[in-house]
Amino acid sequence: MSDSLYPVSDEWARRARVDAAGYEKLYGRSIADPGSFWLEQAKRLDWIRRPELAGDWSFDEEDFHISWFADGKLNVAANCVDRHLGRRGDEIAIIWEPDDPNEEARRYTYRQLHEEVCRFANVLKAEGVEKGDRVTVYMPMIPEAAFALLACARIGAIHSVVFGGFSPEALAGRITDCDSKVVITADEGRRGGKRVPLKANVDAAAAHARAMEKVIVVKATGGEVAMQPGRDVWYHEAAALVSAECPAEPMGAEDPLFILYTSGSTGKPKGVLHSSAGYLLWASYTHELVFDYRPGQVYWCAADIGWVTGHSYIVYGPLANGGTTLMFEGVPNWPDASRIWQVVDRHQVEILYTAPTALRALMREGDAYVAKTSRKSLKLLGTVGEPINPEAWRWYHAVVGEGRCPIVDTWWQTETGGQMISPLPGATGLKPGSATLPLPGVDPQIVDAEGTVLHGATEGNLCIARSWPGQMRTVWGDHERFFQTYFTTYPGKYFTGDGCRRDADGYYWITGRVDDVINVSGHRMGTAEVESALVLHPKVAEAAVVGMPHDIKGQGIYAYVTLNTGCVADEALRTELRNWVRTEIGPIATPDALQFAPGLPKTRSGKIMRRILRKIAEGEVSSLGDTSTLADPAVVDDLVANRVG
Ligand code: WT7
Repeated sequence: MSDSLYPVSDEWARRARVDAAGYEKLYGRSIADPGSFWLEQAKRLDWIRRPELAGDWSFDEEDFHISWFADGKLNVAANCVDRHLGRRGDEIAIIWEPDDPNEEARRYTYRQLHEEVCRFANVLKAEGVEKGDRVTVYMPMIPEAAFALLACARIGAIHSVVFGGFSPEALAGRITDCDSKVVITADEGRRGGKRVPLKANVDAAAAHARAMEKVIVVKATGGEVAMQPGRDVWYHEAAALVSAECPAEPMGAEDPLFILYTSGSTGKPKGVLHSSAGYLLWASYTHELVFDYRPGQVYWCAADIGWVTGHSYIVYGPLANGGTTLMFEGVPNWPDASRIWQVVDRHQVEILYTAPTALRALMREGDAYVAKTSRKSLKLLGTVGEPINPEAWRWYHAVVGEGRCPIVDTWWQTETGGQMISPLPGATGLKPGSATLPLPGVDPQIVDAEGTVLHGATEGNLCIARSWPGQMRTVWGDHERFFQTYFTTYPGKYFTGDGCRRDADGYYWITGRVDDVINVSGHRMGTAEVESALVLHPKVAEAAVVGMPHDIKGQGIYAYVTLNTGCVADEALRTELRNWVRTEIGPIATPDALQFAPGLPKTRSGKIMRRILRKIAEGEVSSLGDTSTLADPAVVDDLVANRVG
């Protein structure tokens, strides 16, 4: 890791909302007097009833609760749309860049967005959706996905977005878990010139998704789909029958805004639930501070709406701030590795927020793809989702940003609602690979395995010692699991699951997950989830999955599989099992390496020793440590001898 410092330029220190002294002051106030700090920040939202209460929370078991601004009332969609109509009605809210660069981009002003959201909300109402109902959104990256989210928020329905890359099985599980009667989808999605059969996937999910009663289908590609009478509704037909006005439902600050499923260390994904006011405040506050955002700037978060990054930084943050947000349907390397930079030039993007995995993939293609574009509009660059290696950081800084754009490396999680540890471009000197310092209001602590708080330069496990408005409120349907997962490892603190180092300057360096979660291309994958999928196969007796280093993805998936007696381990079965996981969960979960193992290394009590499996997957076979406690130490020799990749 590199400790070289890139100081804040004079221009940024002068021009930004917050400079170094400003950060110190804000941070100090946020910790010394959180009540008045957050009530002051709450003024950035438009309230139906302004709150007098700020945070009311305890992470202790006897009194466990979290609430923010509990006496306030507001509507999230009105905050993202209606309140901008007066001053910014004719300004661009959403720019949509289609997959195919030869197609025209689409633009929606705030006034047009208002009409689209109202219409969508009325369609939902017409299909029987009421306040508090769950609506599953399984959509490609088209403007209607944003309309759908805001339409739910407008009528107080709780959206649950399922990434379009997930399989019918994974979709069905998520529909069932939150008992969602309505699913919004499109005929097909498009990515890099390929079609994704979204509606057909919903049809395939139906057998296992009993809760689903209605499917609203947006016509995106015009591809052929089967419509089931009584269940399936074309969006454009329903929209033609409803009014373009829809009142915004007054919501309590703590009413749920959305559920988003994320992988944990157990097999079943958790439905992370976010609140209305606290979440929106966090998305808006961080988007303005971290990107130093000013309305009029074209801002592009190149994530998918299926992940929390898309929720907070394509939709809610930028729109709450009256911004112009670019939505991109395609992929970074199609038609070629220049696409991102061409989109930047075409729309004069000033702020670009993307993932290290995309940067590593583009970096590999060589500088010429970047150099042939202008990129003069770029002012600020951001990364999210996984640690960025200093080499990729330097490439982003020097080649993409030509040395002129600060990089904000933002650490956060689905659970945190928005960014937590990040530089502020006018305040924080940068170190490649470090997410730098906590945002005002964030109180990180590094603890050792026993939970002792470590001070100064140190390394350990990352906790957050106090609540912040954007914090998740529960796991849908399982409040006990929420408490157990995050608040019992280190009692009284929120445990992030990440390892972390703090250097002598107080800078934070995230070292990766310390639980059984791996980070594949910036997407979180539970190893137990992949194992559960593998053991569903009739020939598989047992499976163990670990992460392995991967040049582009950051981490890849390495699976050890023990077959049932009599089953033959051959290449055909290896391919079949990889495809099996792909079908069960989705392409992102496909094992990169799959090793047939006659036995797994277990202790005498039967516990799989993952430490050894990780070492073998990493290729560090000379440092396996103590194997004498294994029930059968000989299995290790076989695993080492037959290592794949
Ligand atoms: C996990 C959260 C943040 C939204 C997208 C992913 C890792 C995230 C960074 C970063 C190092 C990072 C952590 C975290 N992570 N950002 N800037 N540097 N690691 O959200 O799927 O909930 O994953 O991503 O390990 O715990 P997520």
